[in-house]
Amino acid sequence: MRRIGIDVGGTKINIGVLDEYNNICGRVEAKLPPDKSAEGIAEFIGKLLKTHFSEMPISCAGVGIPGTVDSTGRIARKVPNIGWDNVNFADILEKHIGIPVTLIQDSRAAAFGEYMAGAGQNRNVLVCVTLGTGIGTGIVINGSIFDGGLGASGEIGHLPSGDEGRECGCGKKDCMECYAAGKGIELSAKKVFGEELSCNEVFELANNGDIRAGKIIEDAVQRLGKAMISIINLLSPDALLFSGGISRQKELFVNPLIDYIEKHCYSTNGELPFIGAAKLGPDAPMVGAALAAKCRAKSKGKISASMMCADMLHMEEDVRELEKNDVQMLHFDVMDGHFVPNLMLPAEMINQIKKITDIPFDIHIMAENPEQYIEKYNVCKDDIISVHYESTPHIQKALSSIKQKGAKAAVAINPGTPIESIREILDDIDMVLVMTVNPGFAGQKLVPQCIEKITRMRRFLDGLGYTNIEIEVDGNCSFENIPKMMNAGADIFVAGSSSVFDPKLGIEKAMVKLREIIEP
Ligand code: DX5
Ligand code: ZN
Repeated sequence: MRRIGIDVGGTKINIGVLDEYNNICGRVEAKLPPDKSAEGIAEFIGKLLKTHFSEMPISCAGVGIPGTVDSTGRIARKVPNIGWDNVNFADILEKHIGIPVTLIQDSRAAAFGEYMAGAGQNRNVLVCVTLGTGIGTGIVINGSIFDGGLGASGEIGHLPSGDEGRECGCGKKDCMECYAAGKGIELSAKKVFGEELSCNEVFELANNGDIRAGKIIEDAVQRLGKAMISIINLLSPDALLFSGGISRQKELFVNPLIDYIEKHCYSTNGELPFIGAAKLGPDAPMVGAALAAKCRAKSKGKISASMMCADMLHMEEDVRELEKNDVQMLHFDVMDGHFVPNLMLPAEMINQIKKITDIPFDIHIMAENPEQYIEKYNVCKDDIISVHYESTPHIQKALSSIKQKGAKAAVAINPGTPIESIREILDDIDMVLVMTVNPGFAGQKLVPQCIEKITRMRRFLDGLGYTNIEIEVDGNCSFENIPKMMNAGADIFVAGSSSVFDPKLGIEKAMVKLREIIEP
């Protein structure tokens, strides 16, 4: 299965299909149709896809929008270039192309593309500045696009800059775009030369040694440099990338800009981020939109109560309380003292509890050679048994024996186990259990990089077409961590001492609080 990225520009449309390794395996570029209404453009995209990609199985589409997009990724808010105002373009396009559509502001898509497949790979915090007629910025933090609390992050182009009263398209005056982007360079040229010059012409003059043109560019570089230093000091990114038309002006623009930043930036630890050109060029928004596309509808989060944290002396009372509060699953940890340094929950006990409740069971075997235990459980079709990838050389055999027992099968992976390890067994599983602590004990702290791992796991599964495989997370599913895990794409939360069995709250109150989080 592949995903498609559609970058809707002011005048043209750039479409590419990405394979599961994020390589572009098909592409087409076209001028926008005369009818630039949302319906007109959606119809046009539909025809392009039919003509060029009808042979390819595509799971979902991401659309880069040259304007603001709401937080759900469905509505294009303000898109002045093509005159859209609050249109639900995701709904409209889905009707024409029949696959899930996600919208994303183009400069954020460009940043995400660079982070995932370009010059920002293996970085943690990336700022990518697109220098064109205006200035667009995308910020990616630990694998997620940072929208900001109010959703409007990255408007570097509208930081106050000069004092000449230059009118900005945003309605304010003297924004940085009016001095330091293509538009600003043209306004400066008009002032200095007394005639209209394009941004390219100014660069050409400067290239030929014209001192006045050179000064205009120098001024733009300094203004932008100052803003970049503020951003570095505020966010401490480990990469700062430049893309867009002006970023191709290495000698006159990007190199002096890097020099300026390196010379004037104060860094407490003496380190500066990697600063350089973006790698994907004009394809960045298309690639990023494809990679940011959500390939499945967001599922309603489910709670699996971790029974190792229940009251062992009053197990039945806890089960009744969980039933009363509609918990979706009961999670039983099976530990053998070898695979994990703890010993608990015998099969006899799990089978006894099975007799008193209809809540589906979620049995998590943390034991060496789990094959030997699977036989012991009384399970039916709604129950799930997970075995650890690391616990047996015969993981596929273990999974198929779970299926033979008539239950759902899942593979569990420890924090240090790479996502790609499960590539060969995707046809054998209904769920992946991503451990967010090292297994063995309740009450541990989250391994922080596991949140980003959930994002990558969801993308990995969707990219290969396994949109039906659910992700369960186990370990420190607290009231604070669950929203982050849910946002990263987790479906089922193993809730133990961090939430459902928080002794300060009690099961009832904890479940009310959890429902408020997962069913807003
Ligand atoms: C790990 C266990 C724990 C536990 C969850 O082996 O599965 O993750 O039950 O509980 P808390 O909320 O204490 O992490
Ligand atoms: Zn568990």
